[in-house]
Amino acid sequence: MDNQILSTTFQQQFGTAPALVAHAPGRVNLIGEHTDYNEGFVFPAAINFGTWVAASTRDDNNISVIAMDYGNQHNEFALTDIQHDESQGWANYVRGVIKVLADTDVEFGGANLLVTGNVPQGAGLSSSASFEVAILKAISALYELPIDGVQAALLGQKAENTFVGCSCGIMDQLISAMGNEGKAMLLDCQSLSIEHSPLPDSHQIVIINSNVKRGLVDSEYNLRRQQCEQGASLMGVASLREATMDLLETTKPHMPDVVYRRAKHIITENARTLAASKALKSGDIATVSEAMAQSHVSMRDDFEITVPPIDFLVKIIDEVLGKSGGVRMTGGGFGGCVVALAPTDKVEAVKQVVEQKYFDETGYTADIYVCTATQGAFA
Ligand code: GLA
Repeated sequence: MDNQILSTTFQQQFGTAPALVAHAPGRVNLIGEHTDYNEGFVFPAAINFGTWVAASTRDDNNISVIAMDYGNQHNEFALTDIQHDESQGWANYVRGVIKVLADTDVEFGGANLLVTGNVPQGAGLSSSASFEVAILKAISALYELPIDGVQAALLGQKAENTFVGCSCGIMDQLISAMGNEGKAMLLDCQSLSIEHSPLPDSHQIVIINSNVKRGLVDSEYNLRRQQCEQGASLMGVASLREATMDLLETTKPHMPDVVYRRAKHIITENARTLAASKALKSGDIATVSEAMAQSHVSMRDDFEITVPPIDFLVKIIDEVLGKSGGVRMTGGGFGGCVVALAPTDKVEAVKQVVEQKYFDETGYTADIYVCTATQGAFA
């Protein structure tokens, strides 16, 4: 992002220079899908696409925010009266995080904010979490608030759960806040403990956007969450994190088949996430490859969150990579992106196979990004 354009636009819109520019990245999840709200393990990396917020304080108690990417749409509200805005959907992310922040005991005043970002929206790369965390970073930097990355992530998640209306887990906000350059992050979503893990120099993170727009995503997402809770309750455990395959098999006769398969995905995905993160550390790419392949099959058959164009991308990329790398759908599902961990010398071949075969098979054109892992906003 060119900070000069941001500063110039800020000056034009608000008549002063910004005091600072805050940034928060989007993310790609290497493995561990839908495990976060089941108190399980996830293994994402923050990526070099994100949201930037130029900011300065105001003398009153209003938040005035302008969205560069929506033709400089303007939204303004008072800190003392934060309501949902039906007419400008994007503004609810700002209103939501500011409201949950105002509900804590930290003190802050008004602000002028100018926002822009380059995370593809609706692609499963957490443009919304990056937006939320960038706003929180801007306000906490302006007012020197004592907020750390974990607190910021919890506030972002709360805003999304209670204000925006998506029952998401903690992964996206936490990696956006706490990611490290060149590293993936193993996150235990029960204890919120974090372990940063270097990505191998030999491999690149390649993200392939299927450009299948995610349909029904909120309702299907919330339904998966309910089914997981039902599975845990039928097994008599507090969350699927506590369940084992033995317990699941014993309980199977008393469970709807769909609940059994949702729980099976989560239990096996937790094991795969731990195995893959450990294998990556020791350079055992074949194990990472297998775990990612199994993860995709499990998302397709048991959790049922993939779509045919995504399955096709995974298949053709897997044919190129074999055991030298891994590929799977990433993110909430029902469209969006595929992530590949590809040896540097096979990145071109991955691009080529997608360019040659994807459109003919599906009628969609994919976008391909070779990404680097970046620093989180509060790291
Ligand atoms: C979305 C949610 C996350 C997580 C993923 C699936 O990105 O925001 O909390 O549940 O889906 O792994």
